[in-house]
Amino acid sequence: MNRTLVICKPDAVERGLVGELVGRLERKGLRLVAAQLRTIDETTASAHYQEHRDKPFYGDLVGFITRSPSLVLVVEGPEDTWRIVRTLMGPTDPAEAPPGTIRGDLGTVLTENLVHGSDSADSAEREIGIFFPGLT
Ligand code: RTP
Ligand code: MG
Repeated sequence: MNRTLVICKPDAVERGLVGELVGRLERKGLRLVAAQLRTIDETTASAHYQEHRDKPFYGDLVGFITRSPSLVLVVEGPEDTWRIVRTLMGPTDPAEAPPGTIRGDLGTVLTENLVHGSDSADSAEREIGIFFPGLT
C-alpha cells in the first residue's frame, strides 16, 4: 500500500494551516490522490478511532475530531508512504515533537496536534476505505 490517509484536523483548518500542511507533504514529494473538506460525523469518527474506544480520552477525541471541518487527504508515494508521513508529522505530543516536524513546529498540546496519519500499511488501507471507499 503506497497510499495513506492524512487528516488535517479541525485545529489545523481553524488556524488556517491547511496550506502549510499540504505544502509540506507536496514539497516532500508526495502526491495528492484525494482531498475533501468535511465535518467528520460521530459514526465515521468512531469507525476511524475504533482502536481507542476503551481509552479514557476517547470521548474528548471524538468531540475534537467532529467539532468543525477537517481536510481529509489520500496521499501517494513510494513504499511505506504511511511511514514518510508519520516522520513529517512528528510524535503524538507536540511538546515532545522536534523542530522541523509539523507537530513540533506548529503545535503545543496533545489534544490539538493538527494532523492524523495512518500508523501502518493495514491502517492506511482500512482508513482510506472509511473515508474514500471508491479508492480501495
Ligand atoms: P493520530 O491517530 O491522531 O494520527 O495520532 P497518533 O497516531 O500520533 O496518536 P494515537 O495514539 O493514535 O492517539 C490518537 C489521538 O488521541 C489523542 N490522545 N489524547 N488525552 C490523552 O491522553 C491522549 N492520548 C492521545 C491525541 O490527540 C492523538 O493524536
Ligand atoms: Mg493514531
